[in-house]
Amino acid sequence: MEKLIITGGKQLNGTVAISGMKNAALPILFACALNQQTCVLQNVPAVKDIETTVSILTAMGVSIRHLSPTTLEINGAGFQPCTSPNPLVRRIRASSYLMGVELGVAGRTRIAFPGGCDFDGGRPLDLHMKGFEAMGAEMRTYNEGYMGHAPDGLEGAKIYLNKASVGATVNLILAATLTPGHTVISNAAREPHIVSLARFLNECGANIVNAGTSEIHVEGVSSLHGCTYRIPPDMIEAGTYMAAVAGTGGCITLTGVYPEHLQATIDKLREMGATVEANNAMETVTVSSDRNLFAIELETQPYPGFPTDMQPQFAALMAVAKGTSIIRENIIGGRFAYLEQLKRTGVKTIGEAKESACIEGVSRLSAANMTATDLRGGAAMVMVALMATGTSEIRNVHLIDRGYDNIEGKLSALGATILRCQDLPSENLPTSNFSAVTGIPL
Ligand code: UD1
Repeated sequence: MEKLIITGGKQLNGTVAISGMKNAALPILFACALNQQTCVLQNVPAVKDIETTVSILTAMGVSIRHLSPTTLEINGAGFQPCTSPNPLVRRIRASSYLMGVELGVAGRTRIAFPGGCDFDGGRPLDLHMKGFEAMGAEMRTYNEGYMGHAPDGLEGAKIYLNKASVGATVNLILAATLTPGHTVISNAAREPHIVSLARFLNECGANIVNAGTSEIHVEGVSSLHGCTYRIPPDMIEAGTYMAAVAGTGGCITLTGVYPEHLQATIDKLREMGATVEANNAMETVTVSSDRNLFAIELETQPYPGFPTDMQPQFAALMAVAKGTSIIRENIIGGRFAYLEQLKRTGVKTIGEAKESACIEGVSRLSAANMTATDLRGGAAMVMVALMATGTSEIRNVHLIDRGYDNIEGKLSALGATILRCQDLPSENLPTSNFSAVTGIPL
């Protein structure tokens, strides 16, 4: 286990290159198992969830080779459906995408219950199941996970999603790609990662139209061919660095970003008092802040609304903004567990429920030891540590590593004082190697 040690109070300044989008790369990696030919994926982020996915697919017979740390060559010809390794499947939510792939390739599926961030509200997959059933599969749970088969093969169907679920939309696209007939997914999610998955599959010969709207049409094709595809930039990683500089003060430029994906985050940062300049042609966004932030009301919505995955990072900003801010969480209930950890630094809430929180800004945060509760909650802890006076420690860094590529390297390059070290039980710590003042290894 590792932890981050952060000494706060430094401004962030400089340039940071944004990595590829985790939530686009994950479904695209699984989609490669639908393809008998070789694909090359560029700009794949070096994050733990991708490592886990590569391990799952490799264990299932997919051939994956790193051409560089961020370029993967993948051939799905050897894919063996229903052989996924349970312990790895249990680590990530995106392993649910195996169901769509396995049903599409073999008309049967069997996977362990997928893992990922575990929120109080639960993260059901009922919409995925209903969609597969509409396509002719019989689905059920067993003691360890989900299984299903399509006795007469899958067939195109009209599916209405009660919620615009990202995962269900991805899974149904994956299932429909090689399925004979026409599938219509209504009330589909419109997130950029859905568009990216459809673009990738179309580059491979699939016939998917209207991705990015709420009605996606998929005409099944008999096979896919290889292609080279570049994963788009990660709008949540970008948003996190933008929020971080708003909180610490300073001026940073993000490179390799698509500003149109960031509009909701940009609008809210401006409303809080940060200055944001976006350059579509250059694919850059520059954020500057004098730390003079104002309270806002924030409501999470499906894309293009404000993303739930930026909600904890904005809670960190609200903690130091003048006035009382309100968050309404409409997408993933129960994702406020991280607030208990933030409170250790002096973050003040004046009301919390499963789907809302009220945060009163304070003028100063103090360093504290925190334990990451989930991926984005962990990012919020990094942010309060950067803003706090003194040296904080953040445990459970592996949760942050699920979605952030080299977070300590990127923040250090921007001027933060942040180190990663082994999280040894305190009696084992070689205290002479640590500064008595900062706790940082000497
Ligand atoms: C994806 C993202 C996650 C992001 C979320 C919302 C990936 C790997 N993860 O998660 O980072 O926070 O979108 O933008 O891309 N729901 C149901 N039944 C279902 C499916 C969903 O009730 O069958 C509800 C649940 O309350 C769930 C919420 O909808 O928490 C959001 O789910 P969904 O949009 O499917 O998100 P994920 O694909 O899990």
